[in-house]
Amino acid sequence: MKITYFGHSVLKVETNDKILLFDPFITGNPVAEKITTADSLSPDVIILTHAHFDHWGDTLAIAERTGALVVGNHEITEYAYKQGHENVQPMNTGGSCTFEWGKLTQTYARHSSSFPDGTYGGNPNGYLLFVEGLCVYNSGDTSPFTEMAWIGEDHDIDLAFLPIGDLFTMGIQGALRAARMLKPNLTVPVHFDTYPPIEADTDAWQSSMNAVSLATRVLKPGESFDL
Ligand code: NI
Ligand code: MN
Repeated sequence: MKITYFGHSVLKVETNDKILLFDPFITGNPVAEKITTADSLSPDVIILTHAHFDHWGDTLAIAERTGALVVGNHEITEYAYKQGHENVQPMNTGGSCTFEWGKLTQTYARHSSSFPDGTYGGNPNGYLLFVEGLCVYNSGDTSPFTEMAWIGEDHDIDLAFLPIGDLFTMGIQGALRAARMLKPNLTVPVHFDTYPPIEADTDAWQSSMNAVSLATRVLKPGESFDL
């Protein structure tokens, strides 16, 4: 599995000859715009955690150009369908869906969700991604919540993506609390440094994580790594 980070919560996962793209906010994303364009991304699957503009982003443009399958909660896939994109897979919190390339389980997230035009986006979500015998958790925008302990108990998480930027999500202290419940083998921070209000002290976060024996890796925008 090859993972590429484009800043904010934009993650590309290449696995089993498929390209999965989480929360493709490229246009208008000051970090992502420096390293890529929406036109240069050709995913097979687009996976949405919620409908906010900084996650929904270029979904429709990319989906229309590539025909990608759009995965999200009922409200998000219904919105995409009504905009003319029929290749969708709705899910809802707690449900799993098996695809030819792997499995997704939609998890709870404590946040809100509406589209840029104000349309209700349903409840926000995170995802557990099961591929290649690995388990990857992308929490989506959230604060810590106590059921993260169940996720940590029930799954051996190889990699977790957690927001650390504060203000709209948990900050470094909340992300530490989340990671202590999830117990991932590796945690990569997201949703920080896109704009000044969500700048985060990654050194302080890494120190706090490492102090309780939790491994971290901070990805630069555009950086890839193999898991
Ligand atoms: Ni959000
Ligand atoms: Mn967000």
